[in-house]
Formats: sequence, structure tokens, C-alpha cells
Amino acid sequence: MVKYEFPENFWWGSAASGPQTEGVYPGDGKGESLWDYWYEAEPEKFFNQVGPDKASRVYRKYPEDIQLMKATGHNSFRTSIQWSRLIPNGTGAVNPEAVTFYNNLIDEMIANGIEPFMNLYHFDIPMALQREGGWVNRKTVDAYVAFAKTCFELFGDRVKKWFTHNEPIVPVEAGYLYQFHYPMEINLRHAVQVGFHEMLASAKAIEAYHEMKLDGEIGIILNLTPSYPRDAANPADVKAAAIADAFFNRSFLDPSVKGTFPTELVEILKEIDHLPEYEADDLKTIAENTVDLLGINYYQPRRIKAKETPIDSTNGPMPEDYFDNYEMPGRKMNIYRGWEIYEKGIYDILTNVRENYGNIRCFISENGMGVEGEERFINDAGEIEDDYRIEFISEHLKYVHQAIAEGSNVQGYHMWTCMDNWSWTNAYKNRYGFISVNLDKEGERTIKKSGHWFKKMTDANGFND
Ligand code: BG6
Repeated sequence: MVKYEFPENFWWGSAASGPQTEGVYPGDGKGESLWDYWYEAEPEKFFNQVGPDKASRVYRKYPEDIQLMKATGHNSFRTSIQWSRLIPNGTGAVNPEAVTFYNNLIDEMIANGIEPFMNLYHFDIPMALQREGGWVNRKTVDAYVAFAKTCFELFGDRVKKWFTHNEPIVPVEAGYLYQFHYPMEINLRHAVQVGFHEMLASAKAIEAYHEMKLDGEIGIILNLTPSYPRDAANPADVKAAAIADAFFNRSFLDPSVKGTFPTELVEILKEIDHLPEYEADDLKTIAENTVDLLGINYYQPRRIKAKETPIDSTNGPMPEDYFDNYEMPGRKMNIYRGWEIYEKGIYDILTNVRENYGNIRCFISENGMGVEGEERFINDAGEIEDDYRIEFISEHLKYVHQAIAEGSNVQGYHMWTCMDNWSWTNAYKNRYGFISVNLDKEGERTIKKSGHWFKKMTDANGFND
């Protein structure tokens, strides 16, 4: 038997976001976000036509939900402040009902021994800003920084862990390259500009936070997808994997932690005349305002091979001009979601952060297993028997444990997610929670087997195998 014990005061918990959990729109002064707008305009784009108004009702149910967090062994929990709830038009007046809600949520968490980790942006731009070009428009950077400062002023006395963005690559790739989020463009120029503005906004928010000298720290949450070449002995595959890594990981990891952009990426963008527009001081701002800590979301790796077949160039250059995705035969799959499961990837990321990013303080901010049709695992007592999720978590935790033993500066592990929640166009298709949500019964919650397991495991600060 091997014992996997974690460091003292390890952060155990889960992550979610405001737009995916709160519900209540229209109402209580919340303004329109991109999601509210898009759902109303094109409901057929959403799984079973379920929209953000059907998010898991945390806005109303948070006292009950915080008790459930306790019952599932949380000592910390991450969510996000919805920009369009706090500042309905993106800029200008603050919504007093939102202030009350977030104050109550934060206070209730603290009173129950759950440390609030607050993220400022989870794909949810206020529609008033999107109508003016969203993150393509530099005005959004200023609006975001004003929003961030408002959050620090209102809640920074109690919230000690802040994050500027969750997965900033997602608005870039989903909105401007691969058409799975509004505005569904295929436009590398806009994609690059969005990414640059997100990084600039992050640096400016970090600068503002540090200037306020609050007692706390600020980081960013990145989804890292280790990029493995088809054949590590084939230089063309290795080069292709390195380019994919620069596009999808280092484009945010390097500026966030080191304050610089990867040279390989800059060279490519220069060559195809796609560098972003920026002002004289921007690079200095990014260089001087790096993160205090890093949140790492890990779901699956990327398998890459050298470019074999040219892609359609109608819409201009794309990252895939430089590599092909590779369907590695025999890879282990989550058959309920279609994503690869490769537990060692989490160890490889942590090792890379230790060796190449100054071993910055970090934590696993998301890791999890989505399951479509999870109701088929309900037992007679009405509980979902998700042994596959318990195995998923423990197999990943073994590698986190190993990285810590080798010196990685890992402070915690958050699962995605607490309650099953609304997941953008996938709505409630893939369930990830420790706790199920019954949409037919006003969002009734039931702890799954994994939630009970997590409680036991975190009480013991580890597990045996
Ligand atoms: C994560 C995002 O990457 O994936 C979440 O941070 C999202 O917001 C989650 O809900 C799951 O995605 P999906 O498409 O499987 O429901």
C-alpha cells in the first residue's frame, strides 16, 4: 500500500464561474452578457436549447450550496464575479444588488471555513462592450481594469486570492478561430489582438492590485495542454509540437509569468504580418506586472505531428498552417466526453513550470471528467455512482504528489466542478460535479459518490492506494 499525503494547509476544493452557476437573468439589475445575447439570438446553438438563465441557481441557493461544499470536503472554492452583474453596461454605474449578492456569498463562504478564490473574467464580456468590438477593441482593456479595481475596492478586504482571467486562450480560439463561441469569426488578426489585449488587461489589473497594497495575491488561471510530438526522434514532429505549444500554452504562460512573449511565436506572426497593434508602453507594462501565483487547468494533452496536408486558406492564416493534430492510436479516452485521459500530463506541466518558470507558486485550478448521460449511473438511493471520477481524480493526484515530492511548488487541487453546471453551448450535456443538479426539480442537489469520497480524502489530507 502506498500513502499519498499532501502538504499541510493544501487547498482542496473546486472551481466554477459566475455565468455558469448564478442564473437570474434578467433580474436583480444584471446587465446583458455576450451569452445572454447570443442565447436569445440563436438558442439552437445550445445543447437542448438550454441557456444561461438555467444556470444552477447559486444566486438563490448559495447558503445551501456552501453547506454542500463543506459536506464534500472543501476548504476553498473558486468562482467569478460576473462583470455584467456588477457593472451592467460594462462601464459606469455599479449595481447595488450585485454588491449585496457578492458580499453575502463571500461572507458566507468565510464563515463556513471556505476560502473564496475570485476570478474576474470567465468568457463573459458585457454585451455593451462586445457591440463595440469586445476584446478586439482596446477600450475593453480600460473598461476591464476599471471593473477589476471596483472588485478589489469592494471585496479586497476579505478576498485574498484574485485571478485576472480563466483560460484566456478560450475567447481567442473559440470566438476568433474555431467558431464555437460568439462572434464565431475565423480571423487570426482578431484572435491575436484579443489575446494581446487580454494579457495587457491582466498586467494592468495586477499593477492596480499591487498599488492598492491589499493583503492578498493575484494570479491567472491558464489551461495548459502539453504538446507531445508523434515521434520524439523526428525533428519535424518536435518542431511542429513546439509551435503548437507556443500558440496555445506559451502565448499566455510566458507573458503571465515571465513578462515576455515567446520568440518563436513573435517570429511567425511577424513573418505573416499578424503582430497585434500596441502602444509604446504596453510591453513594459506586461514585463513589469507578472503574476504572484499560477492556476493550472488540465484536462487533456495535445498530440502533434509535422504538417502533412495544407489547410483551407480562404480565411487567411491559421495556427494549423504549422502543425497537424495527431490521433495517437491506443490513447486512453474518456468515452463519455471524447477527451483523452493522460494523467502524466499533469506531472509534465508541473515539471515544466518548476524547471522553466522559476518554480512559481501554483495550484491545480481545474481538472475533471465530463460525463454525458450521467443519470444512467444513479443507484436505488438516488446517488450517482461515479467511480470513474474517483479514479480520474486519484490517478491525477498521484502525479501531483510525485511533482511535489520532486520540489514543485504546488499549493492545492481544485476539481471542476462542485455542482453540475451550465457549460456554454454544451449547457448541461457533460456533467462534471461532485454534486448533481436536477433541472426538473428546481435544481435539486444530490451529492455523488465522488463528493463523499472527496470529503474523506481531504479530511485525511490524502489517500492510500
Ligand atoms: C473548462 C472551462 O475548460 O471546461 C469551463 O473552464 C467548462 O468553463 C469546462 O465548463 C467543461 O467544458 P465542457 O464543454 O466539457 O462542458
